[in-house]
Amino acid sequence: MAEPSSREERQKVTLRVWRGDAKGGRFEEYTTAVDTGMVVLDAVHIVQAEQANDLAVRWNCKAGKCGSCSAEINGMPRLMCMTRLDMLPPGEPITIEPIQSFPVIRDLVTDVSYNYAAKKKIKPFKPRKPDAADGTWRMDQQDVDRVQEFRKCIECYLCQNVCHVIRDHGKHEEGFIGPRFFVHVAALEMHPLDTEDRVPELKKTDGIGYCNITKCCTVVCPEHITITDNAIIPLKERVADRFYDPIKRMFRVFGG
Ligand code: SF4
Ligand code: SF4
Ligand code: FES
Repeated sequence: MAEPSSREERQKVTLRVWRGDAKGGRFEEYTTAVDTGMVVLDAVHIVQAEQANDLAVRWNCKAGKCGSCSAEINGMPRLMCMTRLDMLPPGEPITIEPIQSFPVIRDLVTDVSYNYAAKKKIKPFKPRKPDAADGTWRMDQQDVDRVQEFRKCIECYLCQNVCHVIRDHGKHEEGFIGPRFFVHVAALEMHPLDTEDRVPELKKTDGIGYCNITKCCTVVCPEHITITDNAIIPLKERVADRFYDPIKRMFRVFGG
């Protein structure tokens, strides 16, 4: 079969892109020609180049690794650079909105600085003294493996975007750090060399009690990190063991 000779003969898509700023906005429609194998970010870039030069969109790697291009595509939180156009219903407009849990700066770009502040609150890695005179440590491979999953996080904040504790209840304003940072705390707390104690903060200031394990964060994670089962639930267990275990509580009360 002959290849289409011009962009006019190629497949067309219509993007409904949210345009606006903190004061408000609306959806604008753009129809453009695209090629086989393109992703949503490609189509947005074509629109930006040919029809809407002032369209604000954040991206960096176009490889699913920088976490910059998060958006809501047909209502689903996704990376624009990892969402192929042929994954979406053919012949229907594609709706693209900024992520909803953080304030819009302009068009598809949101202010995610809350997340940087949340990360700064978490006590950093504090390794024990080296195990050997040459400054090296000894660790069990299974302990090393356990935290590898958490290190895949690309800080796209899609999990923060869908968490109802942030999105619907605004508890991040009261200190709730959100699923991305429970993953970060888990990576530190379960690290075989770490000696810091972050359990009191999890209960008192980080708001882990607000999480009711809906697993929405796990569903949207583009790195397939098992956020709830492998990070949040073990952290909740540590909080429960420390603060709610009746025998341990008795020892704390009588032991001072
Ligand atoms: S499992 Fe917890 S952290 Fe994840 S989305 Fe649900 S409430 Fe938020
Ligand atoms: S845990 Fe997953 S969804 Fe959340 S910020 Fe990291 S990569 Fe994104
Ligand atoms: S542009 Fe880097 S993850 Fe999409």
